[in-house]
Amino acid sequence: MSLVFLVGMPGAGKTYWGVQLSAALGLSFIDLDKYIEEQAGATVSHIFQESGEAVFREKETLALQALVANAGTQCIIACGGGTPIFGDNLHIMKAAGCVIYLKASFDTLLANLQRDHTDRPLLKQKDPTLLLQDLFEKRRAYYEQAHYILDVENLSVPTFAQIIAQCTDRPF
Ligand code: S3P
Repeated sequence: MSLVFLVGMPGAGKTYWGVQLSAALGLSFIDLDKYIEEQAGATVSHIFQESGEAVFREKETLALQALVANAGTQCIIACGGGTPIFGDNLHIMKAAGCVIYLKASFDTLLANLQRDHTDRPLLKQKDPTLLLQDLFEKRRAYYEQAHYILDVENLSVPTFAQIIAQCTDRPF
């Protein structure tokens, strides 16, 4: 397996860890939301606002399919929080590589989201804490189908490296 997909709730640290790991392990890194934005010539927020969530989800699946077809041999991909939930995305990822769920407590998610000023259209709609809880309840069964579940509270590059070495059949 060559592609490593990081999945989990918004604020779990998917992009943060993707950047750290790609630097430490010498793998390329792709942020799925950024890729969608490049392809669409519009921000995720703008797509949600102008076209709605369903259109964003179509673009997300198309972007995922394109990355799986073209990403190259060894690559870390940070997914959006909703990526594994919609359509056949989880199956596509599990068939193309290794899916790692970054599991975080609510306190960690909230603390990270307060620090991080990324525009998150879904979390703007109502009380973010309630929404986050609601999203998590609906999503956890999907996240838990990942190949690996890592608790972000105790995460380090060496722990990750061990798992990624297993996924990619390559020592780090
Ligand atoms: C979403 C999470 C966002 C982004 C979009 C939808 C979600 O990514 O893909 O706003 O459904 O949880 P992050 O998880 O990086 O915030």
